[in-house]
Amino acid sequence: MHLVSPSLLSADFGNLQRDIEMLNDSACDWLHVDVMDGIFVPNISFGQPVVKHIKKHARKPLDVHLMIMDPGRYVEDFKNAGADILTVHYEACTHLDRTLHAIKDAGMKAGVVLNPHTPVSLLEDSVQICDLVLLMSVNPGFGGQKFIENTYAKVRQLRALCDRKNPQCLIEIDGGVNTTNAPLLYEAGADVLVAGNAVFKSDNPQQTILELKR
Ligand code: DX5
Ligand code: ZN
Repeated sequence: MHLVSPSLLSADFGNLQRDIEMLNDSACDWLHVDVMDGIFVPNISFGQPVVKHIKKHARKPLDVHLMIMDPGRYVEDFKNAGADILTVHYEACTHLDRTLHAIKDAGMKAGVVLNPHTPVSLLEDSVQICDLVLLMSVNPGFGGQKFIENTYAKVRQLRALCDRKNPQCLIEIDGGVNTTNAPLLYEAGADVLVAGNAVFKSDNPQQTILELKR
């Protein structure tokens, strides 16, 4: 599968409705929504009230990436705000199994996110519960960072793990994705690419989305 999930972190926050409408009219598949708490990551982005407004204008599923400590506390809140897919960091959850089940029980797709330093092998006992796994290809917190090359190897390892334990599970990549590394990521086994700067700093974001899907 070749899906693209543009990250609204790189959108113009003063013109969110305009940027969401541009994405509604594009070939993108999901809208990637980055929630940051200033503790798990150094940056603070926005929370549930903003997600609710994004939902009001979006005509594509909201792919909500929680970069917050103990995300299990907010599963219901983000369901109510309109999340369709909710991903939580392996590094931020003491009870990952419980949190993933809570996300599914609330009626959302559930995913785990791994930071660049976290080995894929740690998912051996949780990949069965996941609808998707998101591999960070930068250290989370900011848009516009440089892609970490070791990600290709991790995608291949994860593909092998999913083939063995949960072939349905989607593999998503987030950070520094562009039209140059996109084909290599799909080739390694990725299904969904997040792109912030590549889309929003492009002269023609809708054309870039098409190129990222190829
Ligand atoms: C980083 C966020 C990303 C970010 C990606 O912490 O999780 O989703 O917006 O932005 P780019 O594509 O510019 O690296
Ligand atoms: Zn993200």
